[in-house]
Amino acid sequence: MRFAASWLCALQFVAGIALAQTPSAIYEPEHGQPGKDVVWVPTPEIMVDTMIDLAKVTADDYVIDLGSGDGRLVIAAAKRGARALGMEYDDNLVRYSMRSAEQQGVADKAQFVKADIFASDFSQATVLTLFLLPDMNLRLRPQFLAMKPGTRIVANYFGIGDWSSDTAVRLPETEKCGNYCVAYLWIVPANVTGVWHMPQGELTLTQSHQYFKGSLRTGSGTAQLQGRVSGDALNFIVDGVSYHGRVSGDVIEGTVGNEGASVGWTARRKPK
Ligand SMILES: C[S@@+](CC[C@H](N)C(=O)[O-])C[C@H]1O[C@@H](n2cnc3c(N)ncnc32)[C@H](O)[C@@H]1O
Repeated sequence: MRFAASWLCALQFVAGIALAQTPSAIYEPEHGQPGKDVVWVPTPEIMVDTMIDLAKVTADDYVIDLGSGDGRLVIAAAKRGARALGMEYDDNLVRYSMRSAEQQGVADKAQFVKADIFASDFSQATVLTLFLLPDMNLRLRPQFLAMKPGTRIVANYFGIGDWSSDTAVRLPETEKCGNYCVAYLWIVPANVTGVWHMPQGELTLTQSHQYFKGSLRTGSGTAQLQGRVSGDALNFIVDGVSYHGRVSGDVIEGTVGNEGASVGWTARRKPK
């Protein structure tokens, strides 16, 4: 009787292994399979590295991939030592990604959640990765622009409306990268719109993404200016004099003057 029971156990064990290895039990995603707002098409492996390089991902980063598919961008970021999270609506893809992260030894750093990216908070990321349709990127743009200045957003192939990228890398469409071979990088700019008081006068700025224009009104007149914000760093020139500064909320602090003869300046934004 004991003999029969142990045989039964052994048979159950073997049957268990066989079932786990039946092809129908192993889920494999298919290119072009339906997704909630966009189908699953993976970023080519060579572009995954290009995107991670372009964003300069390090172990200090928290990377979130919006619509993470089979998890490849998240796993690649984790292999660079970053903490990384994939937000994906499809349950099967979430489980598949978790398994891949486990198999590739990065499950402690690469995590995945079933989530609708349009109903999720991803504001804590220091790097966002995207391979979404243009209308999806555009819909998410207000959230992107509200992220901490300096956050890097890197997208495969599709842009974010009229927000021009800070850098782009185009790979030749060869065997290694058949389609979707352009990576774009945006650095979230600080918001500088408004009227700022500074010792030299009153600075009025309007902004379109990383570019701004405006005027500086002083006792001796009003000068027009234009400049650029990269993360929290702002630069402009008025009447041949260079201003550099760092924006922190409603304060800008920096230096004014040309090389060798610069002094500090501070500006405070006027409450609306
Ligand atoms: C083009 S694939 C990109 C996959 C992956 N990021 C990559 O680059 O390889 C887009 C992914 O977004 C997922 N997706 C579509 N709509 C979504 C939504 N509203 N929330 C979360 N994921 C979504 C799809 O299931 C698909 O896996």
